[in-house]
Amino acid sequence: MIYLDYNATTPLRPEVLEAMLPYFQRHFGNPSSVHGAGRQAKQGVEEARERIAEFLHCRPAEILFTSGGTESNNLALTGMRHALRHKGQHIITTAIEHSSILEPLDALATEGATITKLPVNSEGRVNADDLVAALRPDTVLVSISLANHEIGTIQPIAELSRLTRARGVCFHVDAVQAAGKLPLDVTSLGVDLLSLSAHKISGPKGVGALYVRKGTTLSPLLRGGPQEREKRAGTENVAAIVGFGIAATLAARELERSIAHCCQLIQQLWNGIVQRIPGTFLNSPLHQRLPNTLNVGFSNAAGEGLMMGLDLAGIAVSTGSACAAGSLEPSHVLLALGRTAEEAKSALRFSVGKETTTQEIDRVLEVLPHVVERVRKAVES
Ligand SMILES: Cc1ncc(COP(=O)(O)O)c(C=O)c1O
Repeated sequence: MIYLDYNATTPLRPEVLEAMLPYFQRHFGNPSSVHGAGRQAKQGVEEARERIAEFLHCRPAEILFTSGGTESNNLALTGMRHALRHKGQHIITTAIEHSSILEPLDALATEGATITKLPVNSEGRVNADDLVAALRPDTVLVSISLANHEIGTIQPIAELSRLTRARGVCFHVDAVQAAGKLPLDVTSLGVDLLSLSAHKISGPKGVGALYVRKGTTLSPLLRGGPQEREKRAGTENVAAIVGFGIAATLAARELERSIAHCCQLIQQLWNGIVQRIPGTFLNSPLHQRLPNTLNVGFSNAAGEGLMMGLDLAGIAVSTGSACAAGSLEPSHVLLALGRTAEEAKSALRFSVGKETTTQEIDRVLEVLPHVVERVRKAVES
């Protein structure tokens, strides 16, 4: 199989698996237990916390482990809303966020919060003036992703957070797709909260983290035991947390090489598509985009059909986010860029990674023109 769906998930690195294995057997203790077995598990969790803190350039005490990006986003939004209820009702986000941002905000709206969804330009970028105009005296939180999961657009987060925090409003960034693809530093980003997910950086599924700047008040989502400084109850997923820590260290170490590798592959892919297939258009921006992501529209073809045709040839790509896969609705991200429903439905997202090779891209460029032709013919007939 040729796997070009790294934005959905990434293969687990062997070094990560190896680090995790002892925590399923020998080091099986509960990190909350005070005996030796418990202390050993706790040490694994705390070492991983230090690794994630190093990854984000923050203090270990500012990291909370969660069950993944979805929980981190839910905790940030719902936790801040409940903690700041007395201060105001208004939350700002964008029209192109992941469902793990938009759905919890819809739920908060039913409980009395007011949500503003900022528009984006044709490249998926938020305008700072729109953000400033949307800020109100009762705004308590702004949540904007660093890089979009479908098209890869990078937002000017440092500027947006500076304008927001200057008005005393907290800023949350979903960095799930940016992690491992861009350098991350919470101080230069200037954010109060930041979400991560391990399985997007060659770590295990079902574990993530939320950075919470020291002094930020946050109500817990899960209540029970005193784990994670009473902000996230429940016995820690020790093996997964250990794997997450190793994955973050490796991702940071190899970041530059990985960016160069992905940029080259995406350039090869886009050049090949333009040369071989007429009637294509780019949904991703040319600049300020994730190095590994390319979203392309194929006029008069359905992305779903293209994706299935490629799958039959052993090539895995997606039509949008994995969470929306199988949905017949056009992508809300592409609609927000101003694409028509038909254009949006003709899109494919290619996302490459460390293990992708130029030979694999050559093979995709061999197969793709035939698949597009077949799907277009089916539409015509
Ligand atoms: C931008 C973004 N945020 C959050 C998530 C959810 O992360 P998880 O799969 O760890 O719940 C995803 C997953 O695709 C994502 O792309």
